[in-house]
Amino acid sequence: MTDFRIGELRVDGADTEARNHSSEEENEDWIKPLIHQSQGAKEFAYCPYSKFRVGAALLAHDGTVFTGCNVENASYNLGLCAERTAIAKAVSGGYRSFKAIAIASDLEDQFISPCGGCRQFMREFGDHWSVYLSKPDGSYKEMTIEDLLPVSFGPEDLKKKRLFTTENGS
Ligand code: THU
Repeated sequence: MTDFRIGELRVDGADTEARNHSSEEENEDWIKPLIHQSQGAKEFAYCPYSKFRVGAALLAHDGTVFTGCNVENASYNLGLCAERTAIAKAVSGGYRSFKAIAIASDLEDQFISPCGGCRQFMREFGDHWSVYLSKPDGSYKEMTIEDLLPVSFGPEDLKKKRLFTTENGS
């Protein structure tokens, strides 16, 4: 299900790595609203154990935004991070192509940094899209998935030539 849309999103196309920050044509008016939506998502965080609220807002290429919060569990290891919640919502709604994700927490003096598991989860959907690590005052740092998870393993690797494969896939 769609959470929100950011109106008049300009779509850069698949080659986001070729993005030119100085381009006059580029309209990045969506960044602040996306961060704002991640802050809103944080309000729904279910984190009675860590008491550490996290929100995420994931922007698909057509402008649709999926939000997520962390969802903890009495069986601690089952807890979900905000980023993964947002991605699972998007994928289960038919979306697999993402432009950016914004992440918010209550850390005053630090940009919230996604955990290793979430980096890999995001990387599944490409390594040239943007992650906005934010602070509660709305300031942010932009990084790519590749910056956060260099030399990564992804779905393409499973298709590469291998020395050995089993006949039946076992
Ligand atoms: N958490 C997230 O949701 N995203 C992150 O990027 C870092 C950590 C959550 C997991 C757990 O519910 C709480 O923050 C403390 O680790």
